[in-house]
Amino acid sequence: MEGANTAITTTRLADYQPPVYRVEQVTLDVDIHPGQTRVTSELQLQHNPDSDQPAGELVLNGEALVIESLNLDGETLTQDSYHYDGHLLTVRDLPAQCVLTSVVTIEPEKNTALEGLYQSNGMVCTQCEAEGFRRITFFPDRPDVLARFTTTVHADKATYPLLLSNGNPVDWGEEGTRHWVTWDDPFPKPCYLFALVAGDLACLEDSFNTASGRPVALRLYAEHRDLDKLDHAMQSLKNAMRWDEQTYGREYDLDIYMIVAVSHFNMGAMENKGLNIFNTACVLAHPDTTTDAGFQRVESVVAHEYFHNWSGNRVTCRDWFQLSLKEGFTVFRDQSFSADMNSAAVKRVEDVDFLVNHQFPEDQGPMAHPVRPAEYQKIDNFYTLTIYEKGAEIVRMQYNLLGPEAFRRASDRYFEQFDGQAVTCDDFVACMEAESGLDLSQFKRWYSQAGTPVLTVTDEYHEGQYTLHVRQHTPATPGQPDKAPLVIPVKLALLDSNGQAVAMDEQGNRETVVIVDQSEQSFRFAVPEAVTPSLLRGFSAPVVLDYPYTEAQLATLLAHDSDGYCRWNAAQRLYFSALDRLVGDPGQAQSEALALKPVLERVIERAKEDPAQAALLLTLPTEVALGDRHSPLDPRAVHQARRALTGALGQVLEEQWQAQQQAWQRQDFSMEGDAIGGRQMRLLALGYLAAAGSAGVTETVGELFGHPLCMTEELGALRLLVHHGLPGADQALADFAARWQGEALVMDQWFAVQATCPGEDTVSVASALLDHPAFEWTLPNRVRALVGTLVNANPVAFHAADGQGYRFFCEALARLDAINPQVAARLANGAARLRRLEPQRQAMLEKGLQGVQQKASANLSEVLSRILTDRS
Ligand code: PHE
Ligand code: ZN
Repeated sequence: MEGANTAITTTRLADYQPPVYRVEQVTLDVDIHPGQTRVTSELQLQHNPDSDQPAGELVLNGEALVIESLNLDGETLTQDSYHYDGHLLTVRDLPAQCVLTSVVTIEPEKNTALEGLYQSNGMVCTQCEAEGFRRITFFPDRPDVLARFTTTVHADKATYPLLLSNGNPVDWGEEGTRHWVTWDDPFPKPCYLFALVAGDLACLEDSFNTASGRPVALRLYAEHRDLDKLDHAMQSLKNAMRWDEQTYGREYDLDIYMIVAVSHFNMGAMENKGLNIFNTACVLAHPDTTTDAGFQRVESVVAHEYFHNWSGNRVTCRDWFQLSLKEGFTVFRDQSFSADMNSAAVKRVEDVDFLVNHQFPEDQGPMAHPVRPAEYQKIDNFYTLTIYEKGAEIVRMQYNLLGPEAFRRASDRYFEQFDGQAVTCDDFVACMEAESGLDLSQFKRWYSQAGTPVLTVTDEYHEGQYTLHVRQHTPATPGQPDKAPLVIPVKLALLDSNGQAVAMDEQGNRETVVIVDQSEQSFRFAVPEAVTPSLLRGFSAPVVLDYPYTEAQLATLLAHDSDGYCRWNAAQRLYFSALDRLVGDPGQAQSEALALKPVLERVIERAKEDPAQAALLLTLPTEVALGDRHSPLDPRAVHQARRALTGALGQVLEEQWQAQQQAWQRQDFSMEGDAIGGRQMRLLALGYLAAAGSAGVTETVGELFGHPLCMTEELGALRLLVHHGLPGADQALADFAARWQGEALVMDQWFAVQATCPGEDTVSVASALLDHPAFEWTLPNRVRALVGTLVNANPVAFHAADGQGYRFFCEALARLDAINPQVAARLANGAARLRRLEPQRQAMLEKGLQGVQQKASANLSEVLSRILTDRS
């Protein structure tokens, strides 16, 4: 276990050295016994000619391994020919080519950090990315060492009837009450892609014929009770496989593709070669137990992990600084896939909403870092929204700069040229340049420069000439005081007074892209009248746009713009300006709502065209987003402002909300796009009515809760009852828990609904829930559902004036850190707004964090020290 005073080391990109030895072949033997697992590994080593170090000394990673024996080319190594300090094994006097065999023991039962080999509900499984393999055996645990793996798993037949690893099963047998299976993976891979599962699991099997006619067995495994929740993942997998063939020309390459659902998991899912391991939350889905959002998440995560087979596995990362090479690209690929499977316009707005509300704050706070960082302490702490989501935006910008055909040629080149290699973000961009002839050297600053650029735009119109003046500025981030200009593609249209896009050039184009690549630039257009600019269409670059829109212009954009993002952004701006005025003055909510009424009426009228899009347009910004606009943060005033506007909008549009909630009521369950969008619209309308205290809403919501068609309705109704304190809320919570106590993922939602109930009292509710029999510290999903949601999505509770939210948080951090440092460190990001608090709150939280810091693991300590030393 990690403990206080773990030596903190910094790893730097500039220090990269190729490995001294390559591993040609690994032969692993994993012998699972209760209480102790014995791992025998045989490494065929070869001195690396690309290294400027001579053969002779080899340093292997190995975390807390108990050595039984070490053997070099058949000779037992004596204590004086190696050194092991609990982290690194140094072996001296090695020939250029040799075989190193180690026998070690580990204890998966005691592994609550869920890294390496561990137990979950009776099964044994692995998680090796980023540096978990070193907890299983000695190995050069770095992504640029690619080896062929042959793995034999031995275990008790009755407890573990199923034994899985990467590749294909090539041999198997029985030994009394025990049995064994040998798996062989023909593709050389870094050890972070190693996986092993032993357990008693149910299987959903199907098959897929690749474009070139090769059959692939698809096997999805889960606990027996969850066998009925695998169909959606299977369909998503087949769709993803077909899509990658059609869109990127990429076929699957093994005979078997397996996914295993695991309850205890630190992240969403893991792309191990041929044997993905998934958090149950990202693979199990059934309409009775999973919300529509949950279904969409499963589709996108299944696709994401599948796409990694090429973007990540066949072509992998040279070092962990290049993490976004695989993650940014793969997120871009899964976003494009989901856009093609569902509504592209809605998907883009959802993705931008997520980026702007989660990655932007990260990029503007103490945790800001480049998409390709220059240094890190714990790589686990760099699986961030910046690496993933901003990384995806950087790939998207390249896609848009090149256009679909050149981009496809460039991705083909990338996959062909680097197949089987470990490469860098520069290699990726070089392929984009080679196929397009573009010079992307300045563009590449997006990888190395942290922070969110601010684009300040003003305009003027004189006699047929419309001019946009653009300035770009990226605020300083920790360790990067000065920023250089980026290449910012701004897609734009110009709308006339009727909201129609005007022709912008002789060809009559009504949309264009200007490239902003200096600190200040102007762009001219010949147009017949003064216009409203529709800027950053499709969210063409991940920047903050500062343009002094009038409310009339925003109303025009919201009503007429053909770009889904620009409509949504116009709505957000209208809401923010109303809410900003209400912070500290919530009494004016009625008049703000009346001013918004005509604009929103038009959106509601069009809801039948696309209910999901309407629901996005009609959703107010969160309290967290609103809070970030006010300094120092005043959580109560923010809460009151938002609550007041919700209630007032509920009132002034009561008829419309009533009509909507009736219009979208259904007798039969369906997963069609309109049915899903309709549920969103209906729950949104009921939310406004509940906030307004509208007559009859309690009955309608109670009815929905009692007779739901699916979990979206049941949970949506429960949330409305609880969050609006409607009569019957307590009974509903009790009924829900009684009904779903056997379904872990549903119980997570039950905890989350309570933890997100806006109000300071929620802290004591959440504290009491820590003692609920269903609460488990060792189950990351549960901890995130209760603690994570309160901290990240309930600011009025987290920042309760008496500091009880901070006490709850700090106690949870300390407790969790002793069990699972990775998840604790992630949770600690909830304190990133420390320096935005007023002095009293800041002092309370700071003191709490300092207390936790004293005993923190290396993971948690890195995050806390960044937050505590923030002086922004
Ligand atoms: N590589 C995984 C993904 O994004 C995420 C992950 C990282 C999972 C580290 C576990 C541990 O697909
Ligand atoms: Zn990924």
